[in-house]
Amino acid sequence: MAAQGQGTGLGVVIIAPADALDQDWIAGLQSESSINVLARVGVLQRGIEAVQQFQPNIVLIDRPVDQLEETIHSIYAVSSNTLCVAVLPQQDMAAVRRLVGAGARDILVKPLNHREIIASLRQVVQMEDARRQRAGQQSLLAISRQKRAGKVILVMGPKGGVGSTTVATNLAVALKHVGGHDVALADFSLQFGDVAVLLNLFSKHTLHDLAIHYDTIDDSLMERVMVPHASGIKVLLAPAEPELSADMSGVQVNAIVRALRARYAYTVIDCWSFLDEVTETLMAAADQVLLVTTPEVPALKNTKQALEYFTRHGVHRDNVALVLNRFPSVKGVTLQDIQQHLRHPVQANLPSDGPAVTYAANKGIPVVQSHPQSWVAQSFLKLAAWIAGDNVETITQGPSKPEAFAAQSETKQPRWRLGMRKSGS
Ligand SMILES: Nc1ncnc2c1ncn2[C@@H]1O[C@H](COP(=O)(O)OP(=O)(O)O)[C@@H](O)[C@H]1O
Ligand SMILES: [Mg+2]
Repeated sequence: MAAQGQGTGLGVVIIAPADALDQDWIAGLQSESSINVLARVGVLQRGIEAVQQFQPNIVLIDRPVDQLEETIHSIYAVSSNTLCVAVLPQQDMAAVRRLVGAGARDILVKPLNHREIIASLRQVVQMEDARRQRAGQQSLLAISRQKRAGKVILVMGPKGGVGSTTVATNLAVALKHVGGHDVALADFSLQFGDVAVLLNLFSKHTLHDLAIHYDTIDDSLMERVMVPHASGIKVLLAPAEPELSADMSGVQVNAIVRALRARYAYTVIDCWSFLDEVTETLMAAADQVLLVTTPEVPALKNTKQALEYFTRHGVHRDNVALVLNRFPSVKGVTLQDIQQHLRHPVQANLPSDGPAVTYAANKGIPVVQSHPQSWVAQSFLKLAAWIAGDNVETITQGPSKPEAFAAQSETKQPRWRLGMRKSGS
């Protein structure tokens, strides 16, 4: 699948057999400035996924006649504002009737030329926008400008235990703290998610509810499923039982991420350390991947493999930030050696603070709240500020306020603490 960034024109996804992909009409569409070809896909299932991911204004479908009707239904299920235009191999009145019945907005007959297609797309959009205007709804172009409003940050560790969940929970709370934005934290560590425990949250509604209703996610379902945390963030908990997460598909994952992205300025996602369909889909959807590692040889070996894997799977280097947890470490590898070995810059470090982090984990309070003055909490806040676009120094070799840090490390009780709140219904 070839995908381009979102421009200002009408977003179009083309689903056409591989042998049609390089026909002149596609090149013609791509050269048209008012048309933004978001993806051109040969395989039907990938096409539906692309529609789900990009939420285009229009899908142009050139598939065998017997697949067209079902394809149109699937597209409306994953993207209700998308308009479908179908391509037929020859004049076929019976097929036209069926396709119009399924909801096709226009039907073109081969051979195609791109001027005819552009004229059709424009007409389809004009008619829809006129209808929208009468109904007092936003125009299609206004909708496409709002796409990808929220930023999705995927936190992953290439090895269990490096601190991925600790980073995800604290980062989400720190993002709320630095910018006051709407922040969601989603626990995609599906089988043994720890977010609920680390934030002392409970709800009978989880990510599983969104997965089973993936094609009808709306505000009321989101309201029920997102659990409020005392810090102000909203949390999507992992399914309560490991078996509930079996066979989650990329289509379901994309639908959930899209629902989150549309509602929150930042969605922080914690995920597990293996590279399955769930992780791959999250990687493709994320604006920023935070790869968490520690300065020990086994973790660094996996990190190198993960970075190579990202490169092979088209995740842009610039979108992957390395976060070195529990650094600096006594007798550990130096920052320079780590960067040289991984051939990737370390974006931020988080110091090890056993007493504070363990206390926080056991109490179900993020360390940025339980020990806000600690070096580790300050490091989380800096990481959050960097994600929010601030130009801050995110590598630190020591606490910025050593006295406050020392005083607080010795304190058994944090200076302030949230009530042991249980949310959800
Ligand atoms: N910076 C840190 N200082 C001290 N302990 C930490 C730090 N980061 C993580 N830990 C501890 O390491 C363990 C693993 O962390 P966790 O976030 O669950 O890792 P992962 O999600 O990658 O498996 C937990 O016991 C956690 O409290
Ligand atoms: Mg974890």
